[in-house]
Amino acid sequence: MNQTLLPVTEVTCTPYDDQRPGTAGLRRKVAVFQQPHYLETFVEAVFRAASLPAGARLVLGGDGRYFNDEAIGRIAALAAAHGVSELVIGQHGLLSTPVASHLIRSRRADGGFLLTASHNPGGPEGDFGIKFNVASGAQAPEAMTDRIHELSRQVTRYRVAQLPPLDLARTGKIGLPGLSIEIVDSTADYAALMQGLFDFDAMASAIRGGLRLRFDGMHGVTGPYAKRIFCDLLGAGPESLLRAEPLPDFGGLHPDPNPVDAAELVAQSLAADAPDLLAASDGDGDRNMILGPHSFVSPGDSIAVMLAHHRHVPGYAGGVPGVARSMPTSRAVDVVAEALGLPCFETPTGWRFFCNLLESGRIGLCGEESFGTSSAHVREKDGIWAVLFWLNLLTVLGQPLPAILAAHWHRFGRHHYQREDYFIADAARASELVEELRASLPGLAGQSVPGTRILAADEFSYHDPVDGSVSDHQGMRVLLEDGARIVYRLSGTGTSGATLRVYLERHSRQPNAIAQPPEVVLKDLATLAARIARIAEITGVHEPQYRI
Ligand code: G1P
Ligand code: ZN
Repeated sequence: MNQTLLPVTEVTCTPYDDQRPGTAGLRRKVAVFQQPHYLETFVEAVFRAASLPAGARLVLGGDGRYFNDEAIGRIAALAAAHGVSELVIGQHGLLSTPVASHLIRSRRADGGFLLTASHNPGGPEGDFGIKFNVASGAQAPEAMTDRIHELSRQVTRYRVAQLPPLDLARTGKIGLPGLSIEIVDSTADYAALMQGLFDFDAMASAIRGGLRLRFDGMHGVTGPYAKRIFCDLLGAGPESLLRAEPLPDFGGLHPDPNPVDAAELVAQSLAADAPDLLAASDGDGDRNMILGPHSFVSPGDSIAVMLAHHRHVPGYAGGVPGVARSMPTSRAVDVVAEALGLPCFETPTGWRFFCNLLESGRIGLCGEESFGTSSAHVREKDGIWAVLFWLNLLTVLGQPLPAILAAHWHRFGRHHYQREDYFIADAARASELVEELRASLPGLAGQSVPGTRILAADEFSYHDPVDGSVSDHQGMRVLLEDGARIVYRLSGTGTSGATLRVYLERHSRQPNAIAQPPEVVLKDLATLAARIARIAEITGVHEPQYRI
C-alpha cells in the first residue's frame, strides 16, 4: 500500500550511559531530561526493545508535571517515525497512572508512555520520569527494562517525524498522514470503570445522609477525576476537595500521600469535627492514604481490611482467587488470607511484580506498604479506587472507620509497622552498608539480641510462578524469635544519593499492646535495626530523614 506519511528526519547523537529504569521507569532531574537527545535516546531504546507491530496504537499522557507537554510532543514525533499509527493522548496531556493502564487495556493498545516521577517533587528544579507499559497495561517487565538500558547505550541515531503543534486542550481526533491522534477526556472512561465496581447509589445516599468525605489531590493529576466522581456523581460538596487543581510544580510541595507530606490532612483528621473519611493521592494518582476521625489506616492494614470485607463490595462479591503483597509490606494481609483459605503471594517491591499474578488470574487484590493498593481492574495501583473501596465499606458496614479498624485488630491482632528512610548523600557508603550486611547475614541466626534472639536472616529472591523468572537481591530480612521482622533495602526511585529503607514490623495480639502507637511498640526494634546494619558507623547518618 502506498501511503503518504509525515516527513521524517534522522538525527545523530551520542548515547548516554545512565538510562537504566528503576523501580518504576526512568526518573531523573528535569535538567537531566533537558540535555540534548536525552529523552529521545531513551524513548528510541524503548521502541527498539518493544518491537511493536506495524501500525501500533499507543497511549500517552502524564501527571502534568513540568516538561509533561513538551515530552508528549517529542515522544509523539518519535512514535510516528516508528510507524505508530494511532495515539490516544489524555486531554491537557493528563492521564493518571491507573487510568493510563486502563486505557491501554480498554483501547487494546500495544502499550503506552506514562510521563511521571510519581510523588517526587516537580517543577523546573524537580524530577521528571518516563515509564513504558506493555499491552496488558502493566509496567514493562524486568527483562525488558534491562534490554532498554542495554539498547539505550547504543543509540547513535534516531528518526523523528515532523508533527504540527498539538492542541492538547481540545478533545477529538486529529488526522495526520499515517497517524491518527485522539485527545480523550479520560475522566468519563475512569468513572465508568469505577461504577462497575462500587455501589454508587449506596455511596451517594450515604453522602446525602450526612457522610463527610475529604480528598486531597495534592495538586497532582487526580483532581479532575475526583471532581467527576466524588462531586458530580456522588454529590459531595466542593469543600470535600483540597488541592484539586493539577499544577506543574504541585504547588511546590512533595505530592506524596503520607502523614509527613500530607500533614494538613492528618491535622484535619484529628479535629473535633473531623470528616468520616479523609484521603489523599499522589502526583500521578496511584498512591493513596486513608484516614478517619482520629485514625490512620496503615497501608498494610488497608489491604487486610479490604480483603476481610471484600465480598460486601459489588465488584468483589464473587470473591478473589488470592492476594499479594510486596515483601517489605506488613504481613497483616497474610493473616486474613489464611483465615479465608486464600493464597497470599510475596513479591519484590514494585508494582510490576504483581502483574503476572493479576494477568494469570491468581490474585484479585494486592498492595504495598508505600501507600499502594489495587485490584485486577487495572495493572497499576490506584489511589481513587482505594478511596472508593473504603467509602463503599463505610456505607455497607454502617460503622465509622475507627470502629472498623478496631474490630479488625480485635479479630486478627495488629501489625504495628513503620518504615524509616535514611538519606545517604554518598551512594558509595550505602552500597558498602549493603555489602557488609549481606556478608553478615549467615552469621546472624541464633544471635541473642535484647529480649529475644534472631531466628533467621536472608536475602529475598523472587521466583515468579507465572513466567519462571528470578529476581535476586530484593531486600534483606531479619526475623526475630518473638515474630518481629526487620527488612532493609535501597530505594530504586531516587534521583540523587541513596535512600536506605528500613521496615519494622511487630504483630501484637494483647489489647494493651494493640492500643499503643507504632513508634512506642517499635522503638527497640528500630534501635536494633540500626545496630545490626551499623548504619551510623558506615554512613555517618544517625537518624532517618523520615519515619512513616
Ligand atoms: C517506591 C516504593 C515502592 C513503589 C515505588 C513506586 O520504590 O517503595 O513500593 O512501588 O516507589 O511508587 P523504592 O523507592 O522503594 O524503590
Ligand atoms: Zn505514584
